[in-house]
Amino acid sequence: MAYLELEHLQVAFAGKTVLHVEKASFNRGKIYGIVGPSGSGKSTLLRVLSLLERPAAGWLNVFGENIHLPSLTHAGGLSLQRRIGYVQQKPTMFDATVFDNVALGLRYRGMAREEIQTRVGEALRLVELEHTATQRAHTLSGGEAQRIALARVLVYQPDLLFLDEPTANLDPYHIAIFERVIQAIHQERQTTVLIVTHNLQQARRLTDHCLFIHKGSIVERGETEAFFAQPQTSELDDFLCGRMIY
Ligand SMILES: Nc1ncnc2c1ncn2[C@@H]1O[C@H](COP(=O)(O)OP(=O)(O)O)[C@@H](O)[C@H]1O
Ligand SMILES: [Mg+2]
Repeated sequence: MAYLELEHLQVAFAGKTVLHVEKASFNRGKIYGIVGPSGSGKSTLLRVLSLLERPAAGWLNVFGENIHLPSLTHAGGLSLQRRIGYVQQKPTMFDATVFDNVALGLRYRGMAREEIQTRVGEALRLVELEHTATQRAHTLSGGEAQRIALARVLVYQPDLLFLDEPTANLDPYHIAIFERVIQAIHQERQTTVLIVTHNLQQARRLTDHCLFIHKGSIVERGETEAFFAQPQTSELDDFLCGRMIY
């Protein structure tokens, strides 16, 4: 049975539909890549799944609950969001130490000091940045800041991890570290990961399964190897070969 399932989803802005998904399901413990041209609805999909966007129509089946998205209240969403880690494309840091940035979510939850210490240490270890704990967050490099943004959600041990173009502005060295971190999280915690990326090599290296979104629809999906080697639609073929004009 699917772990995460979306049905009859329709998202519109100013009367224009930007995302329409009849059905999409995701299994537990897999890494999914989401690719597609700019403006096709990839970020919107992650925002809906993170319960940050209220669509006009749609059902989300997650953690054994079937949620009618348009009627989900803020309070109703909160308990679910505690199990969802969403890292937006351009993370913002508070002007405080790395430790305090990572600890913030746990402090809001009133967690005991020793537990916070342990959890933050563990999250920093996972992103390979333990040595930055006392550093001011705004002094981090782009690659480090992106991993601290990830540590900020890992600290509460989410079951679902949604990443929006996490390595878009990084150099190859930091991209490699980021990918290693995702693999480590996946191995240690069996977290289900959805990653939006324009880096097709990255999608190939990192994911089990890929989805191609074009003009607000999932046009094709498949096991990663076949997805890249034998695209079934002309749209995906054009996209992969750089022929798609958008
Ligand atoms: N808050 C919003 N208000 C109006 N239009 C939006 C909003 N968010 C996204 N859109 C539009 O929805 C479409 C899909 O956007 P997005 O999901 O960000 O695409 P992608 O992440 O694939 O580049 C785009 O045409 C974008 O302009
Ligand atoms: Mg986007």
